[in-house]
Amino acid sequence: MPTSKASVICPVCDRPLGYQDEAKRTLLCDSGHRFDAAKQGYFNFLTGKGTNFLEDTSPMVQARDAFQSRGHYAPLAMKLSELVQKYHAGTTLDVLDAGAGTGYYLKEILDLMTPASQDALALDISRFAMRRAAKLPNTVAVVWDVWRKLPTSDASRDIVLNCFAPHNPSEFHRVLRPTGVCVVVTGEPDHLKEVIEPLGMLSVAEGKLAALKEKFAAEGLIHSETEYLSYQMELGAEDLYNLAFMGPAGHHLSPETLRAKVQFLGRQLVTASFGVHVFIPKR
Ligand SMILES: C[S@@+](CC[C@H](N)C(=O)[O-])C[C@H]1O[C@@H](n2cnc3c(N)ncnc32)[C@H](O)[C@@H]1O
Ligand SMILES: [Zn+2]
Repeated sequence: MPTSKASVICPVCDRPLGYQDEAKRTLLCDSGHRFDAAKQGYFNFLTGKGTNFLEDTSPMVQARDAFQSRGHYAPLAMKLSELVQKYHAGTTLDVLDAGAGTGYYLKEILDLMTPASQDALALDISRFAMRRAAKLPNTVAVVWDVWRKLPTSDASRDIVLNCFAPHNPSEFHRVLRPTGVCVVVTGEPDHLKEVIEPLGMLSVAEGKLAALKEKFAAEGLIHSETEYLSYQMELGAEDLYNLAFMGPAGHHLSPETLRAKVQFLGRQLVTASFGVHVFIPKR
C-alpha cells in the first residue's frame, strides 16, 4: 500500500498514486501500476506510450535556463505572481504548470506564496526540462503530454499555469477548483521583433485574444482580464544565442551558424512583449 499521498493520479487507471517509500522515489496505485523516479528525480508517465511531439533537447533547455537566470524575463515572472496573488488567497497552494519547462515561473510563485500547504505538479514532454523542475520545493515533475488527460484529480488545483506552452482548456477546467484560476501567458506580435529574422527564429504566433477567449469559454473558463507587459531588453551575444536556441528554432539551428550571427549582431535592444491572460471557471 502507498505510504503517502502524492496528489497525482495514475495515467493508466486514474486511481490516486501514493509514494511507496520515504525518499519519494516510487509511485504506486491500488491497481499495482508502479512508476520509479529517474536518477534526477522526475517521473516519466509516457513510458511505453510515446508521443508525437518533439521534446526540447538538453542544449535548448540549458539555453532557456541560462537566459532566464540572467533575469531578462523577471518582470514577467513578477507580473504573473502579482496576478496569482490577486486571485488566490486560500490556505492551500495547489498548482499545476502545464508545459512547465524548467519551472522558472512556477518557482517564482512557490517562493512568493507560502500558505499552510503547498503542492505543485510540473508537466512537460521534455525529460531535460523535468530534470530541472524536479529540484523545485514541494514539486512532482512528470514527463507528460498536456494534450492527454492530465494526471491529477478533478477540482484539485487552485492555480493552473500555462506559459508559452500548448493550451488544453477542457483539462484545465476539469482540474481547477471552482475557486481556482488559470493564468495563460502568450507572446504578443511584436515580441522579439528586432531579432526574429536576423537570428532565423520562428515568429511568435499572434496572441489573438478573441480566439483564446472563445476556445477557453467553450470549455467553461471565462476570461477575467489580460495584462499586457512590454519592455526593452539589452542583450549581448551570449543572451542572443540563448534566446534563439531556447525557442522552437533550437530544433533546427546550427550552433556554429548561430554563434557567427550573434557575434555579427553585437549588443541589441530587443522588445519583450507579453499578454498575461486570466481565466476563471464559470460559476
Ligand atoms: C516555450 S517553452 C515554455 C516553458 C516554460 N513554460 C517557460 O515559459 O519557461 C514550451 C514548453 O512546452 C513544452 N511542450 C511542448 N509541447 C508539449 C506537450 N504536448 N506536452 C507537454 N509539454 C509540451 C516544451 O517541451 C517546452 O518546455
Ligand atoms: Zn493505476
